[in-house]
Amino acid sequence: MTQLSAAQKTTDSSDRALYGGKGTRRITVRDITVAKERGEKWPMLTAYDAMTASVFDEAGIPVMLVGDSAGNVHLGYETTVPVTLDEMTMLSAAVVRGTSRALIVGDLPFGSYQEGPVQALRSATRLVKEAGVGAVKLEGGERSHGQIELLVQSGIPVMAHIGLTPQSVNSMGYRVQGRGEEAAQQLLRDAKAVQDAGAFAVVLELVPAELAAEVTRVLHIPTVGIGAGAETDAQVLVGTDMLGLTGGKMPRFVKQYADLRQVMGSAAKAFAEDVVGGTFPLEEHSVH
Ligand code: KIV
Repeated sequence: MTQLSAAQKTTDSSDRALYGGKGTRRITVRDITVAKERGEKWPMLTAYDAMTASVFDEAGIPVMLVGDSAGNVHLGYETTVPVTLDEMTMLSAAVVRGTSRALIVGDLPFGSYQEGPVQALRSATRLVKEAGVGAVKLEGGERSHGQIELLVQSGIPVMAHIGLTPQSVNSMGYRVQGRGEEAAQQLLRDAKAVQDAGAFAVVLELVPAELAAEVTRVLHIPTVGIGAGAETDAQVLVGTDMLGLTGGKMPRFVKQYADLRQVMGSAAKAFAEDVVGGTFPLEEHSVH
């Protein structure tokens, strides 16, 4: 029987797992690539502030996206369209500061890369240099090929995002993408285009499960599904949605793992009632 060296013994594949692994250094895009080779599934959550990000980091979430969904769920906008690069830089920097292990992916907001590769490079450079993210994400398949290619050539890892792309809400709405033969072929072309341009992973948002499974089989880079069925390599949810904090009607693909909105509301009411009723602060909360 072959003897394992000491180095091999301490780095078997369960030690290196993205979720549940023992490593404490920051996850890199190389680790993500290796996870696909191992057939390992992994979770990704969005985060927009240092405190929440630190909770997710301690829970072992290996990849966090500072999504421009911050526009809807964190900054009070109706869509992601108004979010600025300054806002994304500030939020991304907070998430980087709150974490030590997760790979942090910063979203390029609408208007910060559509002009072309050079504008994309300028914007992505800000997220890398000022916020300290390890990778950026941008929307679009074939149409974003040039942007992805220049960023990757410049040393900036890119996560692509195809299917439903919320920054295009004014032209595409919030509808399932890739239904019907022609749309499915376009989605496959988009997926191959971003892989060909050098993206290290691709988000598939709101596409039929069978099509997402086919894209996952065809690509050698990992697919990250949201509303894309169970066969993608990774799954992402908006952090506040899965915590039950967002409020309002949730899309069908969201699973709520907690009801933080109820917990926080009850705590706020209990505090208010204590203050109004004179039962807070008590002697133990006072200084003399
Ligand atoms: O901005 C975001 O949160 C996203 C995810 C839903 C993938 O793009």
